[in-house]
Amino acid sequence: MIPDYPPFYALVKDSILAEWLHTLPKQVESAFDPQRHGDLPQWLQAIHDLPDVTTERRGLNSSSVSVGLRQELTSEQFLTLETALRQLHPWRKGPFELFGLPIETEWRSDWKWDRLQSFIAPLKNRTVLDIGCGNGYHCWRMAGEGASLSVGIDPSLRFVMQFWALQRYINNPAVTVLPLGVDDLPESMAFDTVFSMGVLYHRRSPIGFLQQLKTLLRSGGELVLETLVIEGDEQQLLIPEGRYAKMRNVWFIPSVLMLERMLRRCGYKNVRTVDLSSTTVLEQRSTDWMRFHSLVDFLDPEDQSLTVEGYPAPKRAVLIANA
Ligand SMILES: C[S@@+](CC[C@H](N)C(=O)[O-])C[C@H]1O[C@@H](n2cnc3c(N)ncnc32)[C@H](O)[C@@H]1O
Repeated sequence: MIPDYPPFYALVKDSILAEWLHTLPKQVESAFDPQRHGDLPQWLQAIHDLPDVTTERRGLNSSSVSVGLRQELTSEQFLTLETALRQLHPWRKGPFELFGLPIETEWRSDWKWDRLQSFIAPLKNRTVLDIGCGNGYHCWRMAGEGASLSVGIDPSLRFVMQFWALQRYINNPAVTVLPLGVDDLPESMAFDTVFSMGVLYHRRSPIGFLQQLKTLLRSGGELVLETLVIEGDEQQLLIPEGRYAKMRNVWFIPSVLMLERMLRRCGYKNVRTVDLSSTTVLEQRSTDWMRFHSLVDFLDPEDQSLTVEGYPAPKRAVLIANA
């Protein structure tokens, strides 16, 4: 039993994704191979256990992506809802609210959205791709801004299942999260806007990745790139010796100026940096819905301007460029 992707396939059969439909359903099916993750049956069961109700109430353009009202559920259904959603712990990106139940996630992902939203091309009627979208929090916000198609990809099945918990009630086939990594995408696509947020530093070949992002955009389309950066001139780059803020897979943290140059060298036009922010322990923290360690545990307890490894603490930039 895999989540209900066919309504999305039907919707995009005459769109820029038409060609991809020759291979996409098979890719999705194999991503849901039960051998791939031992916890998958438990997550599928959690989605299956969600109370069987429908609602007209959706809130996609407020900080907390929400669906349903408290009074639409009985107390028993409300308890069933919470129990099922907790099976999908840890909830990292959000916040969400389902039928009045707040999901306080590790990240205030709405803050990231607020930092970039006024700088991007208006999303109304645009097709958008969000690479490494986690549970799809920002995909819902993109739909809230009027995107005609909001496609996220993320290889983490747990996050994909969190998306499906929301989709079960929001029920909008123009928004989807596919259980895929960036290397599973077709060689060429024609999205109006491509978002890559929190992914570049995980890539071993950052320039190759930026070139690939360009092939996913139509000519003139917009890239929204959010990533970790360090202070310094266009020659500055941090490649951590081992972990960075306890993360194992961080490869590449450039200065903003180096990143802008990389984008220009890859052929992007109109490259500009629209935001630079330090990540605080208010934006990324442990909560009741994410009970593991979080940013405060990844920083030097004596000096919060450094990570526990002695590197500069996380600072993030948002860059926008056109293909
Ligand atoms: C730091 S999170 C960023 C989530 C979200 N974009 C945000 O900015 O809040 C990075 C995400 O990239 C995903 N990811 C890891 N490898 C990936 C790949 N090869 N292709 C696409 N996404 C990937 C992870 O599962 C994770 O959800």
